Amino acid sequence: MRCTVFGTGYLGATHAACMAELGHEVMGVDVDPSKISKLEVGEVPFYEPGLQDMLQRNVDSGRLSFSTSYEEAVGFADLHFIAVGTPQRRGEYAADLTQLLSVVDRLAPLLTEPAVLVGKSTVPVGTAEMIAERARKLAPVGGALEIAWSPEFLREGFAVQDTLTPDRLVIGLASGLSGRAEDLLRKVYQKLIDEEVPIIITDLATAELSKSAANAFLATKISFINAISEICEPAGANVSDLANILGLDPRIGRSFLTSGLGFGGGCLPKDIRALMARAGELGASEALHSLREVDSINMRRRTKMVELARHACGGSVLGARLAVLGAAFKARSDDVRDSPALSVAGQLQLEGAAVSIFDPQAMDNARRVFPTLNYATNSFEACERADAVLVLTEWSEFKDLDPSELATTVRSRVVLDGRQCLEQARWEDAGWRYLAMGLPTINR
Ligand code: UDX
Repeated sequence: MRCTVFGTGYLGATHAACMAELGHEVMGVDVDPSKISKLEVGEVPFYEPGLQDMLQRNVDSGRLSFSTSYEEAVGFADLHFIAVGTPQRRGEYAADLTQLLSVVDRLAPLLTEPAVLVGKSTVPVGTAEMIAERARKLAPVGGALEIAWSPEFLREGFAVQDTLTPDRLVIGLASGLSGRAEDLLRKVYQKLIDEEVPIIITDLATAELSKSAANAFLATKISFINAISEICEPAGANVSDLANILGLDPRIGRSFLTSGLGFGGGCLPKDIRALMARAGELGASEALHSLREVDSINMRRRTKMVELARHACGGSVLGARLAVLGAAFKARSDDVRDSPALSVAGQLQLEGAAVSIFDPQAMDNARRVFPTLNYATNSFEACERADAVLVLTEWSEFKDLDPSELATTVRSRVVLDGRQCLEQARWEDAGWRYLAMGLPTINR
């Protein structure tokens, strides 16, 4: 089969490469010529484990190509995926649909033959209907243009695995259409369907809302355990043991119950805000009041981490040398969008600390956002003469650090585990003072 993918960010580039890996001929399209010129030669412009080799292999085989030309894309296929970003609007909670509308407005007038547009981006419920109407008005082919929504649930760091072995496939369809959209999507996903990936065919609104609801639930789980963490401290309880106890109940499950600095990145924070904004527009704002709390618990984690750093430095970080390990919003990613690690590092610097930071993948992106931090070339260098070491992203290379070796370079053996990712006993045995949110206050 042939298809195009509009938008070659981490969602679009991964989707295009994975569709080619499934055996289809795929063209990725983007308005950014610098992205396209990298992708054309098989180079992924961001860090995503496993994607580079797969993309290169499919470009080399000729199954995967890239272009900035909409005309070329329309001549190439009649199944078009849209995978552009839907970031938070500046100064508002709602999603910014500019990129999505721009794809539709440029693509639709070129459609002279029956075609299917499939949205993959996370959008406010109702967007697909709006896009369908807009596109049909602009397209010479009119009613022979079908719209479907097939949201993507991939996580950064596991994008390839999540696309090729997803938990489920969701296809949202408009009522009263020819069935062509469903046929094409079943064909393009055939290999996954053969592998018994559950497939749910539903209406457009349910498909769109399922993605927002899934992210809202995940965010709620994280903020729930972080709220409990706030109680653990004064109560003398340990949030990590507590999460393990809760997690053994199959109705609850252990995943997304790791307490720490909270969620960041390009999805969960903006998606819960966009969902609240959309609920308000639909006259159902009361239904999602809890998400406001989820958001504020989450943002409070960053403040609490800074408080913990002050506490570790005797009340103020002014003049302290602090090592920050981690800049990406999570491990296995170079993404620093709304990164809790970077926001804490920035606040500590504002309060007068000399911050030396290291991240295995996100250094370039972090430097662009926060050029004034001191960027070290490795963890050891970041920790040189540090008054405290803060681990703020859960990279496995930080978990594997040797506390005895690191002890030889720091000024004080104080480690703040912002992600509950270090083995407390190992650090304490090597003479470190181990601090983390959600531990009994008495241990500090
Ligand atoms: C998320 C959803 O998981 C994915 O399904 C959706 O398609 C896009 O949004 P992603 O943003 O890549 O994916 O990251 P995710 O793995 O969900 O982590 C989000 C944030 O939550 C990270 O900052 C992570 O460190 C944090 N997190 C995660 C916790 O603080 N505790 C946890 O237990 C899990």
